[in-house]
Amino acid sequence: MITGTLLAAIAGLAWAPAQDKKLEESKARGKELYAELCITCHLADGKGMAGAIPPLAGSNYFLKNPAKAIQAIKYGLNDPIKVNGVEYSTPMAAQNISDEEIADVTTYILNTWGNKGKLITVKDVEKVKK
Ligand code: HEC
Repeated sequence: MITGTLLAAIAGLAWAPAQDKKLEESKARGKELYAELCITCHLADGKGMAGAIPPLAGSNYFLKNPAKAIQAIKYGLNDPIKVNGVEYSTPMAAQNISDEEIADVTTYILNTWGNKGKLITVKDVEKVKK
């Protein structure tokens, strides 16, 4: 009984740092992809350009639903959208990168500029269909 509880507690403790480490590693890879592919439009501070390029920092468009960010990166976005009350209608092209790279760059934008999100996995990316 006691041993079981103790083991569960130890397993729990080991799990949390392992998850943090995965998130940090994915975020680091995502940061490089961001600098390569996204920074020219969404800018280093993730704030975009009001009315032309939507912000990723504090975006109410995807922070509650990361699948919407995955969707934009994977398939592009052609319809007008509203982000933090401002309308955007310039299309964004699909980014020609692997599901793993999409997972990493999404983890990055979900956990940068004060954004607080989770680790995005390849499985999460695979689930998002057009
Ligand atoms: C050529 C400029 C350009 C590039 C490069 C670009 N985007 Fe975008 N992005 C846009 C525009 C414009 C929109 C708005 C599309 C619309 O209104 O339908 C957008 C929308 C988005 C959105 C959803 C709206 C929001 O702000 O929450 C996300 C998330 C996003 N981009 C992430 C990325 C990521 C990550 C990359 C790099 C892998 C990237 N974008 C590369 C221009 C760009």
